[in-house]
Amino acid sequence: MNRQLPLGPAAAATVSLTVDGAAVEIEGDPGRRLSEVLRDRLGLKSVKVGCDAGDCGACTVLIDGAQHCACLTPLAQVQGARIETLETAEGALTARLQDAFHAHGAAQCGICTPGMMMAAVELLRETPAPDAAQVETALAGVLCRCTGYRKIIAAVLDAGSVQAPDPRPEAGAAVGAPVRRLDGRPKVDGTEVFGADVAPDGALLVRAVRSPHHHAAFAFGDPAAWAAARPGVEAVLTARDIAGVNRFGVIPPLADQPALAEGAARHRGEAVALVVGDPAAVEALDLPGGFPVTWTPLPHALTEAEGAAPDAPRVHADRPENTLIRGRVASGDAAEALKSAAHVVEGRFETAYVEHAPIEPEAGAAWLDGETLVVQACTQAPTMDREDLAKVLGLPLERVRVIPSAAGGGFGAKLDLSVQPLIGLAALKTGRPCRMVFTRSESMQATTKRHPSKMRAQIGADADGRVVAMEFHGDFNTGAYASWGPTVASRVPVHASGPYRTPHYLATSRAIHTHGPTSGAFRGFGVPQAAICQESLYDELAERCGLDPLAFRRLNAMRDGDRATFGQVLHAVGLVECLDALAPAWGEARAAAEAFNAAGGPIRRGVGVASCWYGCGNTGLPNPSTVRIGVTEAGRIVLHQGATDIGQGANTVIAQIAADALGVTLDAIDLIGPDTALTPDCGKTSASRQTFVTGRAAEAAGAALRREVLRRANMGDGAAIRAEAGRLVLSADGVEQALDLAGAPLDARGYVLSAEETYDPPTTALDADGQGEPYAVYGFGAQMAEVEVDMTLGRVRVRRVVAAHDVGRAINPMLAEGQIEGGVAQGLGLALMEEYVPGRTENLHDYLIPTIGDMPEVVSILVEKPDPEGPMGAKGLGEHVLIPTAPAILNAIRHASGARITRLPALPHRVLAAIEAAR
Ligand code: FES
Repeated sequence: MNRQLPLGPAAAATVSLTVDGAAVEIEGDPGRRLSEVLRDRLGLKSVKVGCDAGDCGACTVLIDGAQHCACLTPLAQVQGARIETLETAEGALTARLQDAFHAHGAAQCGICTPGMMMAAVELLRETPAPDAAQVETALAGVLCRCTGYRKIIAAVLDAGSVQAPDPRPEAGAAVGAPVRRLDGRPKVDGTEVFGADVAPDGALLVRAVRSPHHHAAFAFGDPAAWAAARPGVEAVLTARDIAGVNRFGVIPPLADQPALAEGAARHRGEAVALVVGDPAAVEALDLPGGFPVTWTPLPHALTEAEGAAPDAPRVHADRPENTLIRGRVASGDAAEALKSAAHVVEGRFETAYVEHAPIEPEAGAAWLDGETLVVQACTQAPTMDREDLAKVLGLPLERVRVIPSAAGGGFGAKLDLSVQPLIGLAALKTGRPCRMVFTRSESMQATTKRHPSKMRAQIGADADGRVVAMEFHGDFNTGAYASWGPTVASRVPVHASGPYRTPHYLATSRAIHTHGPTSGAFRGFGVPQAAICQESLYDELAERCGLDPLAFRRLNAMRDGDRATFGQVLHAVGLVECLDALAPAWGEARAAAEAFNAAGGPIRRGVGVASCWYGCGNTGLPNPSTVRIGVTEAGRIVLHQGATDIGQGANTVIAQIAADALGVTLDAIDLIGPDTALTPDCGKTSASRQTFVTGRAAEAAGAALRREVLRRANMGDGAAIRAEAGRLVLSADGVEQALDLAGAPLDARGYVLSAEETYDPPTTALDADGQGEPYAVYGFGAQMAEVEVDMTLGRVRVRRVVAAHDVGRAINPMLAEGQIEGGVAQGLGLALMEEYVPGRTENLHDYLIPTIGDMPEVVSILVEKPDPEGPMGAKGLGEHVLIPTAPAILNAIRHASGARITRLPALPHRVLAAIEAAR
């Protein structure tokens, strides 16, 4: 656990430290954060900053051997102390930890990894062979948003063992192998470059002036005079300085979000002006309090109901109503079928704003390279960023280059622009490199959230327990700007039936503007909320039908050849296989819970189940990816893949697919990662599309290059290809032939041989009744949760989650497991603790995310039902894994206590009230 140091010696202008065994003297403000000193003065960039409040632990270092948050430690308190960071701590121990983290896949995005390791170093020095409970206690002060902690615990437990070298598969056998991340080493040695680590020499600092009100008109005084009176301030910029169209958005026809607000701010935390200048001077400013801006609060609407009210204050004057968009899927006659159903259940459910809480707040830098504006920042969508930046800043597209920095978590939050237009504008206006790092509260105020929802549904079944009809309606609070609201409104009705046969169906949705934070993409695009409604009601319906919940789901599960409510005939449906995979654990756990509860006492155990499905990629819209592969004169194979890897593993998985399609070993491949100047467009990292869509493009490019290599060598299909210095060697039936590369002419792409292929999933748009083929590939899954409910306190503890997911083909089983464990963690947070309230939970101590101590055991089961449309049979996985967790937990709570939770998160007072209501 991180500790607080006692108050240090009297403030001094010079503080002496020992860093890496060497004495260091630091002059300056003794109140300065140690994290800043280590990063900015000493260049120890492994010290990451996630909150500046001691909540996330990313900045954990050792001070005289004990872990502390460097962000909470003023310089004066470490006079004479010995400081250790990942760069400087004892090499042998950190090397063992790094190997173990790498081998276990314990670093996904990697932003938390250095802090985790420093906490582990302290533990392992005192306790060389700890048990899991000791690891959990030692690492409890460091948050991870990606991994679900299980692989981190395993890595620390395993750090004493010698790690075997990465077993690299033979040529043609990369797919299916648990290969360690190809980009994993920088994540575990602390050298990965995240947005805040991009700091060009002489860069100016950019800070935003933000609205303290949900809705307010504003007027500036005299910013120029204000700036002139403050040494070090180079520029103050407002919307008037924006040369292009001051509107961006992920769905261009609905682009409505200004980079800097004009005249009125539509949500708390919206930026209205920028201050740019010398970092020390700009950091010292009081913003917005000291800035010459006058606010006039205006009426606001914060909830869906308030936004949809006839007299609601209009969020966008140029829209006819606050309802941004509606969604609908209809088949059969649901109302009539419900009337004649043997059993009908109904319910209303409500979910809250949920914050992505990546441990890395948004950050990056921009500079001019000749006429080109270069923006290097954390993002999930470099090509979309480039297009929006060109539009907003009034630049031709060819004058904008976007280089994604490593992203310290995303989960959908980094699909929308954040710092990019602000630093781009500042760099253009000052002609100097400019950087910006959101504070934690800025990150929480200004970036997107999971849509709050209010949902209602009725589901009916016949006397045999077969579902006959469902009606669903969901209102989704899309906040101030459109962002991904239309995607949620269209995706939810498609998925709200769950992966079950539903002959008669009517599902509608609305995305409603309010003056709350903008709701956008967050792992599932509304499907997790809809699954809470449907899967909770399924448990009630199973009970009415007298069926076991798992058996009821199996009875109604979709199978190959079934027609979905939106008219598409599905194939490669692996739901029954997933439910069957849970069955042994389900039977044992239900029996064990009943035996435990029979003994009485305030703690009751319950077991719940829920399923998921999820269409991979855009809903009925094109979303192509293009991949290029080239062979150099030196005999290296270069893979240009532009899919951003935000921790999910695209850099590794896409390379595995390309290597096998070409027929070479992974070691022969050099990876060029996303950069709009160097890689073709692989679209955005969202909607579980990269393994499927970019994977298909990589498979096609690899296969095309292989054909060309074989043709040039005049060899048959089965020939093996080996890359050597200056040549490719092909062999078949004991005959070898070399293609000499050195000195060979280069093609237009600069390679001796190359191929570039594009794949766009075959889909059709939905019609007015939501009928069509919105996705080409669907993934399926089911999870079982075991919980304990304290009947007197309302507290819920999740003991175990068993998760079975149909991934089609597990390209990399280790990374797939990591996705499942991380998704379960976020689903647990959604179910039990996460509720963002503007103005109240804008930090990581009021907004709680799961800690290492909250995580249950997670048993992952990979079901492989290949999809012929997926690369080598693979389906997407990233969104799917979060969807069933929350409803499985809610169903387990009901099994344990009788409490029917209809408002999330299931905080103790809500659980207690539901227990009371059930009594
Ligand atoms: Fe821990 Fe991303 S790997 S926050």
